[in-house]
Amino acid sequence: MHNKTILITGGAGFIGSHVVREFVLKYPEYRIVNLDALTYAGNLANLNDIENKPNYSFVKVDITQANIIMDVFHEYKPDGVIHLAAESHVDRSIVDPLAFVMTNVIGTVNLLNAAKTIWDGDFKGKRFHHVSTDEVYGTLGETGLFTETTSYDPHSPYSASKASSDHFVRAYHDTYGLPVVLTNCSNNYGPNHFPEKLIPLCIHNILNNKPLPIYGDGKFTRDWLFVIDHAKAIDLVFHDGKEGESYNVGGFNEWKNIDLVKELCKQMDEKLGRSEGTAAELITFVKDRPGHDLRYAIDATKINRELGYQPSVTFEEGLSKTIDWYLNNQDWLDQVTSGEYQHYYQKQYQG
Ligand code: NAD
Ligand code: DAU
Repeated sequence: MHNKTILITGGAGFIGSHVVREFVLKYPEYRIVNLDALTYAGNLANLNDIENKPNYSFVKVDITQANIIMDVFHEYKPDGVIHLAAESHVDRSIVDPLAFVMTNVIGTVNLLNAAKTIWDGDFKGKRFHHVSTDEVYGTLGETGLFTETTSYDPHSPYSASKASSDHFVRAYHDTYGLPVVLTNCSNNYGPNHFPEKLIPLCIHNILNNKPLPIYGDGKFTRDWLFVIDHAKAIDLVFHDGKEGESYNVGGFNEWKNIDLVKELCKQMDEKLGRSEGTAAELITFVKDRPGHDLRYAIDATKINRELGYQPSVTFEEGLSKTIDWYLNNQDWLDQVTSGEYQHYYQKQYQG
């Protein structure tokens, strides 16, 4: 018998699949329901190892469908919601902003309405955890860090849609008393990362001797966290975070894109037994991303001080594990890069 039902949205995606695994294995007393529409980014193969666990189930639902979402909430009566489902790629948001409004804004409001309806003012033991991003804060110059009180200043349609969803989550707390928590995390990397994003795209292209496209001058900076360390932070904040509050999540691990890609090339050459410098020859500077934020860097002091959070792996270890995963799971890469990915890649990099 399960003592709580936790609905995890976007559980077939990159981060969501690691969150689902963490919860299914760590909390056998919880019933974990993975709700996902299985867009191009969702892949149930990410969860092969836990799909037969007795506390796991999957529902294929699109969060933009308000009535169906309400039915799911009536059927499963979740005590907790961990909301990760989103359109997540900045470049795609530049091409099709409305898809981001639909899923990230309308979809989030549909979930908030469903939680508000079934909890009906009885919030004891209930929690809605909204998983957001550091991109809502906009961009930093050469110095400084984003804290939880940094003003929102999104620049891409993706970050504008995430910022909007964060505002709705807070509004439902302030207006209806919905018991919410939010996390705003920096760039994740690790196994199961879709190869439209910088690190897996470069791994895939190195394996196929294709150019490594670096936007602009490559001096744009991101703060990288191993995905399993993000999943652990979500577990901590979901259980112990203070209601109504936000927690920034990051690893104090900033890299300029060009330095990161050179490090990746070095490790790939070693692991593939190629002579040093082979992969780096593929580096190609290409047209910049419009509205490209110069630098993201998270001040993760609050989650450390209040909840004792610390990342468990160094970047060197995390990157090495990530490359090993891709080298050992080339079937996964082949599967996700067939079909729709080819059209996307063609348009984005050769169109
Ligand atoms: P992803 O694109 O890999 O996965 C998104 C998942 O959501 C997929 O399984 C997809 O099928 C599902 N989905 C998309 N639209 C849906 C819809 N309308 N209804 C139901 N399911 C839908 O994304 P990710 O990188 O794993 O990001 C997960 C969450 O974490 C997002 O909310 C994102 O904004 C946030 N986030 C991501 C990062 C990062 O570096 N990737 C960092 C901070 C925060
Ligand atoms: O900061 C958190 C965010 O990180 C998440 O909210 C997003 O969902 C996630 O996609 C990620 O956004 P970024 O835009 O930072 O990630 P991406 O991997 O697309 O790009 C990382 C950096 O690399 C960025 O400066 C753009 C650059 N880049 C990216 C691609 C795909 C390139 O130079 N070339 C590329 O081909």
